Amino acid sequence: MPLTEELQVIAPAKLNIENVTKDFTSRRGTVRALENVSLTINEGEFVCFVGPSGCGKSTLLNIIAGLETPDSGVALMDGVPIPGPGRDRMMMFQEHALFPWLDVIGNVMFSLKLKPNLNDKERLEVAKYYLHLVKLDNFIHANIHELSGGMKQRVALARALAPNPRVLLMDEPFAALDAMTREQLYGDIQAIWEKRKKTIIFVTHNVRESVCLGNRVVLFSPHPGKIREQYEIDLPRPRDINSVELAGYSVQITSALKGYEKESHE
Ligand SMILES: Nc1ncnc2c1ncn2[C@@H]1O[C@H](COP(=O)(O)OP(=O)(O)OP(=O)(O)O)[C@@H](O)[C@H]1O
Ligand SMILES: [Mg+2]
Repeated sequence: MPLTEELQVIAPAKLNIENVTKDFTSRRGTVRALENVSLTINEGEFVCFVGPSGCGKSTLLNIIAGLETPDSGVALMDGVPIPGPGRDRMMMFQEHALFPWLDVIGNVMFSLKLKPNLNDKERLEVAKYYLHLVKLDNFIHANIHELSGGMKQRVALARALAPNPRVLLMDEPFAALDAMTREQLYGDIQAIWEKRKKTIIFVTHNVRESVCLGNRVVLFSPHPGKIREQYEIDLPRPRDINSVELAGYSVQITSALKGYEKESHE
């Protein structure tokens, strides 16, 4: 039997952010969230965004997701302007946002609801595959409130992966978890990225986390949000967050970050 489309390994996407500027106006005035930001993310790259609060990381992620539009400049996926939200780009957030009235597999199947090519049996098969990938085989019929924080994020990851997106957008997905749980997820997300060949953008405040996961770390500074520096992380995988090699990059990036934080308070 041929694999359903959702189980195939499909080509990851290339993203081009060209001269993007984005302002937000509220009663308190206008904030320039992003100013002339340009960035290329290659097919299948794992890129981490790091920077102080308010430097536009989530705004850029939302633009790529098609939830916001730039005031000027353009965001392209495979050379085509991003028209709006789509299942080829799935988002994952710090809060899992799972449906408490559905069980684990129900939550994952829900994200396949709009896939007209799948019948119910195939939807079940696809959801089971992704729950296996995130190591939740034994919990498919558990209720959401019975799960630990780490397990809830695993369900959220399976739900984001199930429509087989070409880009995975992750906005501080592990920020609320304890260190041990995060470390297990670092190993698992690297393995999933290698197996499923996704383009991943991962936002974090944790510099070590960014070095552990990214092929590249993009450092932003705020007011207005700009890209200040980019670091290629040339370390073999799987990476261990506690390794000495990783610490070398972290020290370098953290000291740059502290410089921007100092600037923004002057
Ligand atoms: N919908 C909105 N309305 C008004 N201002 C906004 C909106 N979204 C973002 N902003 C402002 O734009 C700037 C960038 O916000 P953004 O959320 O992208 O930052 P961030 O880098 O993700 O920050 P954090 O690390 O705290 O999540 C901030 O000053 C924020 O207050
Ligand atoms: Mg944010």
